[in-house]
Amino acid sequence: MNDLRDRIEHIVRQVVMETVERSADSWLPAPFVGGRRPLIVANWKMNLLAADVQKYLAGLAPQIESGPEVAICPPLVLLPVLRAALGKHSQVALGAQDLHPFPFGAHTGEHNGAMIVDAGADYVIVGHSERRAAGEQDELVGRKLQAALAAGLRPIVCVGEQLDERENGTTLKVLRNQLSIALAGLASPLPDPADLVVAYEPVWAIGTGRTATAAQAQEIVAFIRERLGELLSFAWAARVRILYGGSVTVDNAESLAARPDVDGFLIGGASLDPDKFSKIIARAARVKSLDYNREVER
Ligand code: PGA
Repeated sequence: MNDLRDRIEHIVRQVVMETVERSADSWLPAPFVGGRRPLIVANWKMNLLAADVQKYLAGLAPQIESGPEVAICPPLVLLPVLRAALGKHSQVALGAQDLHPFPFGAHTGEHNGAMIVDAGADYVIVGHSERRAAGEQDELVGRKLQAALAAGLRPIVCVGEQLDERENGTTLKVLRNQLSIALAGLASPLPDPADLVVAYEPVWAIGTGRTATAAQAQEIVAFIRERLGELLSFAWAARVRILYGGSVTVDNAESLAARPDVDGFLIGGASLDPDKFSKIIARAARVKSLDYNREVER
């Protein structure tokens, strides 16, 4: 029954989005809803060394943090290096790419939330598909989310469907499950909406050069927001930032960011080049910042 409902809902959403896509100018500034400050996150994954950090930071545009919030998630060992080197980019936030759910103990090779805070991070990615591919299940993602919040970190919770799940029409079902299990431990009082981020990362789009269309991203991100509302609180969900991730480039950033529910990006490959990363931020700022400034002035 749920499956049938999901399939019908997905088809209706796609038809609506395609109609909107045909009739709308996709380059129009996105209406800025809920006072959500756009967030653009670099996920360096297992790339770059300490020796690359200065050059990377020097390659970022000087005004990079004047619009969207910007965060860099380097390999864990580079967090203190980046923290010390940020200099004129001191507004750039830092994040880790994973954490262990336990606060301490015999877990060789792992790092807890307190260590990650100590190393200079504000954010931590949890449930990235590359970790899910290594066996991480939704329950564990939920425990990591709780551990992150308990340590004072802002979790960026990744969700997304595999290619076969998209093709067999179960995308919404997969996301419904991922969200309800990962967020099951959240209860009243809910965290400040600025302290929890969700990233929609269709697995088939990560590192493949195959990006979701802006309409597909908007459809699913809006679905995630509704689902957060149903699960927790609609007022809260309206203020939570939901990012898109998966082969974001300088060329597709503007049309994706122009979608009203897409509050920014989680970027892998393109974030390794500071020039491309700066351009993506500038393009997202172009479609979001007018409204962002208006919100700030209120
Ligand atoms: P990509 O990676 O931008 O290289 O597709 C995105 C991610 O894995 O977060």
